[in-house]
Amino acid sequence: MLYVEILGSLPGMATDEVRTLLGREPVGRDHLLLTVEGDPAPLTRLGLAHEFGLLLFEADSVEELLRRAKGFDWPIEGTFKVDTETMSNCVHDVRELPRRLGAVIHSQGFRVNLSRPDSVVRVYCGERLHVGLRLHAFDPKEFEARKAHRRPFFRPISLHPRVSRALVNLSRAREEVLDPFVGAGGILIEAGLMGLRVYGVDVKPEMVEGARLNLMHYGVRDFDVRLGDATRLEEVFEREFEAVVTDPPYGTSATLGGRARDELYREALASIHRVLRRGGRLVTAFPADFDGESEGEAAGFRLVARYYQRVHGSLERYFYVFERP
Ligand SMILES: C[S@@+](CC[C@H](N)C(=O)[O-])C[C@H]1O[C@@H](n2cnc3c(N)ncnc32)[C@H](O)[C@@H]1O
Repeated sequence: MLYVEILGSLPGMATDEVRTLLGREPVGRDHLLLTVEGDPAPLTRLGLAHEFGLLLFEADSVEELLRRAKGFDWPIEGTFKVDTETMSNCVHDVRELPRRLGAVIHSQGFRVNLSRPDSVVRVYCGERLHVGLRLHAFDPKEFEARKAHRRPFFRPISLHPRVSRALVNLSRAREEVLDPFVGAGGILIEAGLMGLRVYGVDVKPEMVEGARLNLMHYGVRDFDVRLGDATRLEEVFEREFEAVVTDPPYGTSATLGGRARDELYREALASIHRVLRRGGRLVTAFPADFDGESEGEAAGFRLVARYYQRVHGSLERYFYVFERP
């Protein structure tokens, strides 16, 4: 059994990201802690998670946890430390737990190292207490280093790299991704770092050049970014794609290239439908005042899921996951 600690900012999307990567439903949940079964390897691709690991056992009180810990066969290698996470729904007093649990594990012959442990025993406090062994923690600095202002070609309009990564995962892409409004390439950087072949289109030559520069800067080599129109994709590549992930411009006339926003979205949806393989997914954002659900269905897509996000005071959006039947 595994645990995944998801981010609190987009919990619905984060849960579906885990579900999509594992291809199965979580077996349990306690606030931001998901309990899942399966192979942990695909989870290293997650965007909206803090960490994942082996779930060792669960308890309903601190005393029960310590009792179980005494007879437990700890899968610890080298030195260890105990690290607790008090979630906002925590109903147990865990202040003394690291010291007390550490002493129990130490009495079985394991050495403590608080600064550089080889193994981290994680205790999550929510409705219940969940004891795990960390397998992988996502380093926030790695995502920060790929935020828009850290790229060689900078444009302020860009998704957070964690969100871009989640969108790619929700697309179920295994081989390739097309972003028809590529911009500075934020989505393709994440997809490329996951080992996917990436394709991009933008109407502005400077964006095409900028996206290429950014992809190369982060070590993505397998890309094909072309000048073209997202409403005429079939003319740009003359082939079908496994998955499409995108973040279209939201409204300033500069990024819309002088066209009416809703008309651009409608025509782009129709064009994406023409180049997306049957059974393939389109994952896209739209501002909340555009009825993406009806418009997507009118273009021939089936809605799989959508997630709301307030970006700032005047901008609210939904992320949509569509499938081409
Ligand atoms: C919001 S930006 C994309 C941001 C990008 N997802 C990222 O994370 O860096 C939208 C881009 O769409 C481009 N664009 C506008 N109209 C277009 C069209 N008809 N076809 C292709 N690209 C278009 C703009 O030039 C702009 O670069």
